[in-house]
Amino acid sequence: MKLFMVSVVFVLKDAFDLAVCDGSRRGEQQAGRAASGGWCGVEMASPPPPPSRRVCVTGGGGYIASWLVKLLLARGYAVNATVRDPGDPKNAHLGQLDGAAGNLRLFKADLLHPDALTAAVAGCEGVFHVASPVPSVKVVDPESEVLVPAVKGTLNILQACSANNVQKVVVVSSTSAVHFNPSWPQGKPKDETCWSDRNLCLKNEDWYMAAKTLAEETALDYAEKNGLTVITVCPCIVLGPLLQPVVNTSSEFLIYVIKGGPTVMNNMLWHIVDVRDVADALLLVYEKVETSGRYLCAPDQISTKDLLHNLKKTRPDYNYVNCDNGTNLNTSIVTPITSEKLKNLGWKPRNIEETLFDSIEYYEKAGLLQDVEGCPCKLPHPFHMATDK
Ligand SMILES: *[C@@H]1O[C@H](CO)[C@@H](O)[C@H](O)[C@H]1NC(C)=O
Ligand SMILES: *[C@@H]1O[C@H](CO)[C@@H](O)[C@H](O)[C@H]1NC(C)=O
Ligand SMILES: *[C@@H]1O[C@H](CO)[C@@H](O)[C@H](O)[C@H]1NC(C)=O
Ligand SMILES: *[C@@H]1O[C@H](CO)[C@@H](O)[C@H](O)[C@H]1NC(C)=O
Repeated sequence: MKLFMVSVVFVLKDAFDLAVCDGSRRGEQQAGRAASGGWCGVEMASPPPPPSRRVCVTGGGGYIASWLVKLLLARGYAVNATVRDPGDPKNAHLGQLDGAAGNLRLFKADLLHPDALTAAVAGCEGVFHVASPVPSVKVVDPESEVLVPAVKGTLNILQACSANNVQKVVVVSSTSAVHFNPSWPQGKPKDETCWSDRNLCLKNEDWYMAAKTLAEETALDYAEKNGLTVITVCPCIVLGPLLQPVVNTSSEFLIYVIKGGPTVMNNMLWHIVDVRDVADALLLVYEKVETSGRYLCAPDQISTKDLLHNLKKTRPDYNYVNCDNGTNLNTSIVTPITSEKLKNLGWKPRNIEETLFDSIEYYEKAGLLQDVEGCPCKLPHPFHMATDK
């Protein structure tokens, strides 16, 4: 279990020096305005962002959070992001985002140490709670290693929000908190009223699923009891290009599909969402005044067979996994999910083809599809149900 500690405020100065001033790349007006303040030396008459545009993002260096921070900066928000270690090279990409020099501050904070959280949240009108403690080694004591940190971490950030008069909190949950519900009518698309059965998750020792479910229940329960506005968003498998240097678990899954042959994978249904669309969804539920409760964020589903077909269309030459086409699609593992509630707010996710194409293109550029001596390509554990082994 990795913990994220210490409680000093830290502004990422070194990384700012790396930022390149290139006005031509900045399509969005707001981004240009926000970015011009600190490091371009360009005098502009624009006022600083209004106070309502001050937000905090927890776990700022992660896959989803990095895209969210990028989007917020482009829209002219001032952002306080918490990370485990601002000096870690794996967070350096944040300092290079357009607008970071003027509008991004990194705070060294641990979800389990409330004091550091308070410093980052103070003065913010909105908070995006993206961080989630994930066990990095085999779980020995799930209670203390996974369940308590997930719930306690959520409560700590929500309490810091209450104490600092934060107006709206957006919590990133997961479709793990939705799917595992054996009593849901078969064939009926799962919507926001569908919750994973936490006791069954615990019984099956599926700790990640149980922790996500418990944490989301805790967040919505806290909101109701304490009069805090909390919105939860449940993304499915998140794919698309990476901003951070460390490869994400869900990206490892797609990399395995591309180069994991000759292994055979079951023909199953996968729910996929683009990381850039998750960032859009998070900002959308924050900005729309009418939002409340939970939002499922799973616009597309694709079978293993179609996934392979799609990938091979653009890049035929990789050593793809094989799909077991002897068996029929087992829909009892994953049944359809609806994202209508989110789409009704105006959310327009990309086509899955675009996500897959941009992902593979990014992996190629980053050298992630090359074979590395001594590092066999592995299917990440959360996806173990995809093979029979
Ligand atoms: C960030 O934290 C500082 C220090 O606690 C606070 O003054 C500021 O209002 C916070 N919010 C933003 C977006 O800068
Ligand atoms: C990758 O994302 C998953 C959720 O999709 C998360 O559980 C995991 O901690 C992330 N890993 C890294 C290295 O960012
Ligand atoms: C799967 O189906 C394709 C045609 O649809 C066929 O060419 C291939 O041999 C089949 N593979 C297996 C393992 O049955
Ligand atoms: C589908 O998957 C479920 C859950 O793993 C399993 O219990 C069931 O036997 C499978 N059905 C078929 C037809 O393979």
